[in-house]
Amino acid sequence: MNTPRIPPSRESRGIPSEAEIASLAAAWFPEFGEGESLSPPAWAGNIPPPLHRPEHSRPSSPSAAEGFSPVLLPKDAPGFGSGRPRDTLEGAASRNGSEGANLAYPEVPGPSSGARPYESRLSPSRRLGLRSLESIRGDFPILSEKVRGRDLIWLDNAATTQRPRAVIDRLARFYARENSNIHRGAHELATRSTDAYEDARKKIATFIGAPSPDNIVFVRGTTEGVNLAAHAFVKPLLKSGDEIILTLLEHHANIVPWQIVAAEKGARIRVAPIDGDGQIILEEYAKLFNGRTRFVSATQVSNAVGTIVPVAELIHIAHAGGVPVLIDGAQSVAHLPVNVTALDADFFVFSGHKIFGPTGIGALYGKSELLETAPPWQGGGNMIADVEFGRTLYQKAPAKFEAGTGSIADAVGLGAALDYVAGIGLENIAAWEHELVEYGMRELARVPGLRLIGTAARKAGILSFILEGRDNAEVGKYLDGLGIAVRAGHHCAQPVHRFFGLEGTVRPSIAFYNTLEEIDALAAALREFIRG
Ligand code: ALA
Repeated sequence: MNTPRIPPSRESRGIPSEAEIASLAAAWFPEFGEGESLSPPAWAGNIPPPLHRPEHSRPSSPSAAEGFSPVLLPKDAPGFGSGRPRDTLEGAASRNGSEGANLAYPEVPGPSSGARPYESRLSPSRRLGLRSLESIRGDFPILSEKVRGRDLIWLDNAATTQRPRAVIDRLARFYARENSNIHRGAHELATRSTDAYEDARKKIATFIGAPSPDNIVFVRGTTEGVNLAAHAFVKPLLKSGDEIILTLLEHHANIVPWQIVAAEKGARIRVAPIDGDGQIILEEYAKLFNGRTRFVSATQVSNAVGTIVPVAELIHIAHAGGVPVLIDGAQSVAHLPVNVTALDADFFVFSGHKIFGPTGIGALYGKSELLETAPPWQGGGNMIADVEFGRTLYQKAPAKFEAGTGSIADAVGLGAALDYVAGIGLENIAAWEHELVEYGMRELARVPGLRLIGTAARKAGILSFILEGRDNAEVGKYLDGLGIAVRAGHHCAQPVHRFFGLEGTVRPSIAFYNTLEEIDALAAALREFIRG
């Protein structure tokens, strides 16, 4: 059995210099930069512009910091998120001519600009690329559902997205006309189903910029993808005393699998800290690397607080030390353009149901050399080339990691979902969602007693908050009574909540089919709730 390559020790290669880290940080947080070094690195890919954040709802750093004091920078440190006044931040950002120059996102007029960008809410004129928002909403049958006698307002997209008719119809067509197990050549339906399944793999590869469909392993979802990488790739690398770096923003699915393999091998988990806005402190992340670091696993977007993590920078820093990185794309892939090749991610995982596809299906991307050298993690049919009682020969990746009959129709449905999203265009989606998030943060911050949790300069999808003195579940229940679906609780991310001194939040989460009126309805409902 082949053993995965062991990364050379960090001492032999060194990690990025302080100056390099400072320049990476400046590229991501331009307000802290020095002018000429502010251009985002070419490999940083498409990143959205910073949000105009409502000042009065920003957290006070000290209270947010209390839960994690050992690693936070002092308030006056020349670092990141150290509580500078907002006007300074905006001034610096707008002075930085290069900021945004190579980004695909349009400038979004903010509340301070004097423009009235939100007049035309769900008007047929609001377009996402070639499509009107109204017609896009018409693609989703469930958005016309009545819930408790009211129009459904679906703001639980981080938990699961809704499916367009194109996906529903594709699943129906598969079962009506193509259903078979995949073993091409056995008969006509086997050929149809195998072709549809492998076609979906190609669509995924194209969608995330993978070099080949062979880099894509079908899994049940993000959780299974992380477990696969942990058990097949990382565990064989680990020795007692080795270290795995995670971030404080992680979902339990990107914590617990690492704890399990670390416990088995006597390794330990180290955690990159965040600031009071919910942003990774890159300087502190870089300091976690040493000769025992074997792997990094980090989310691209926090499911709890919405922070867009500068994963290109995280990967760059890790690779400077020869350390491979897995990116959890569960909450990013439906909101931001992702290119795993440009990012140089070693692994990337996401779930179909978070991107308008079926549940029970997802994908793990892995670099070819890593997939080829990693041993299988589950045995069974489909993943073998030849079996005798004395030995078994395995298929090459990706089949090597797909033991048993997978969720064939759901893989096909995921392919249809990606076609649908690509048809609208992720740049268009990201630009509209940027408006929705910015508007949502502004409007929610105006609700008396509401504290936004997660005020990063760059956020996607998530508008978590708490209402002073009110129980999150009670707020969620009240909203449900009005047909507004949000999630209340810890969202499977307890560590980040505890950093903010909380056990949970109320979490509205948006997708491209949401509207400004829906956010207005949410804010109005919260005001009503408070009144009583
Ligand atoms: N991971 C999903 C969420 O954040 C379930 O709600």
